Amino acid sequence: MYNGRFPGQEIRVREGERLRVVLENGVPESTTVHWHGVPVPNRMDGVPAVTQEPVRPGESFVYEYVAEPAGSYMYHSHVALQLDRGLLGPLIIEERSPHVDYDREYTVVLDDLLTGEPRLTQGRGSMMMGRGAAGPEYQAFLINGRPPADPSLLEVRRGERVRLRLINPASQTTFRVALAGHRMTVVHADSRPVEPIEVDAVLIGMGERYDVIVEAGNPGAWNLVGTSIERQRGSARAVLRYADASANAPAQGQRPAGISGGRLLTVSDLTGTEPESRIGRDPDRTFALTLSSRMMSDGWFIDGEAFPEAEPLEIHEGERVRVSMTNRSMMLHPMHLHGHFFRVGNALKETVIVPPHMGQVTFDFTADNPGDWLFHCHNL
Ligand code: C2O
Ligand code: CU
Repeated sequence: MYNGRFPGQEIRVREGERLRVVLENGVPESTTVHWHGVPVPNRMDGVPAVTQEPVRPGESFVYEYVAEPAGSYMYHSHVALQLDRGLLGPLIIEERSPHVDYDREYTVVLDDLLTGEPRLTQGRGSMMMGRGAAGPEYQAFLINGRPPADPSLLEVRRGERVRLRLINPASQTTFRVALAGHRMTVVHADSRPVEPIEVDAVLIGMGERYDVIVEAGNPGAWNLVGTSIERQRGSARAVLRYADASANAPAQGQRPAGISGGRLLTVSDLTGTEPESRIGRDPDRTFALTLSSRMMSDGWFIDGEAFPEAEPLEIHEGERVRVSMTNRSMMLHPMHLHGHFFRVGNALKETVIVPPHMGQVTFDFTADNPGDWLFHCHNL
C-alpha cells in the first residue's frame, strides 16, 4: 500500500503547481511510481530500466514535475504486478477555471481485488497465475477499496450537480458503469475536457478515466454499479444517497438500467473542447500495428513482439505520428501511450480500448516530449 492505505491516498494539486513526491520504498522488492496520463519529463515517468533505475528496498527517489494539464489521473507502481497487489491511487489536478459547473465531487476508483496469491508471497519467480490468458479469479470488484456488500457512500443533496471522477486502475477488468435513477453527462475523457454528452453508461477500460456530471434530481438511495464485461462476471458497487432521502439503502435488487441497455458512450461520441483535439495535420510517419495472442502460450504481442524483446518505434521530435492498431485477438486491449496525449476521433486521450476480433483504432500525436516511452496494453 501507499502510506498504508488502499487505494493510496488521493494526491490533489492545482494545475501548474510543482508537485514533489518522495517515494520511500518499504516493500521487499524494487519499485517505481508512474504518473499515468500526466505528460511528465521522461526521467520522472517511473518505468524501471527505461526511464530510471528501479528503487530498491530501503531506498528512496524524488519525483518532481509541474502538474498539468488539469484532470483526473492515477499513479501506480510500474513494476511487475505490484499494481494488482495494491500499489495504486488517484491523482487529481484541479482546473484553475473549470469548464463545467458542479457543487460537489467524488473520486470513484474501480478495482479488481486479488489477495493472498500464495506464490506471490514468496516474492520471486513466475507471477503467472496458472490459468494462461484467462487470468486469475478475482475475489471481488471494488469501488474506493470497498466490496459491494459494504459500499462506499456518496452523499448528495437534491438539486446539486455532482461530479464523479471515474478512474479504472484495475489489472484486468473493463467495467460498464451506470447509476440507477440517473443519466450521466460525460464532461472529460481521460483527463481532457469534452463537449458534454448525456449517456446511460460508460465503458471504462484499465487505465481510462471519465468525469461525469450527475444532476441530483431524483431523491433516494441509488446503486452506482460497475459491471465486469469480460471473463469473470461480477460488479463493483457504491451508493449515491440523498441527504433528505427516506430510504437509507437502495431497494433490494435495484439495478441501473444502463448496465444492460440504454445509451453507452463510445469513443466516437467524444469531441474535445480544446484546439489540439482538432489538429488535422497529416502524419509524417505511420505505424500499422497488429495486436495478437498465440495459441498455447501466455504471450500477447504487438507485431509479433513482446517487450522487452521488441524493436523500438523510432520517431523524431516535432513529427506528427500516426498509429493504426488492428486487434486480431479475442480480448479487448486498452492501449496506453506514456508521455503524450493522442487524438483519437475528435478527442484527446492517452488510453484507448481496441475492441477484440479485428477491432481497429487509429490515433495521431505530436512528438513533443523527447525520450524513451512505453506504449503498451494496460491489462496486467
Ligand atoms: Cu498506467 Cu505504463 O501505465
Ligand atoms: Cu491486452
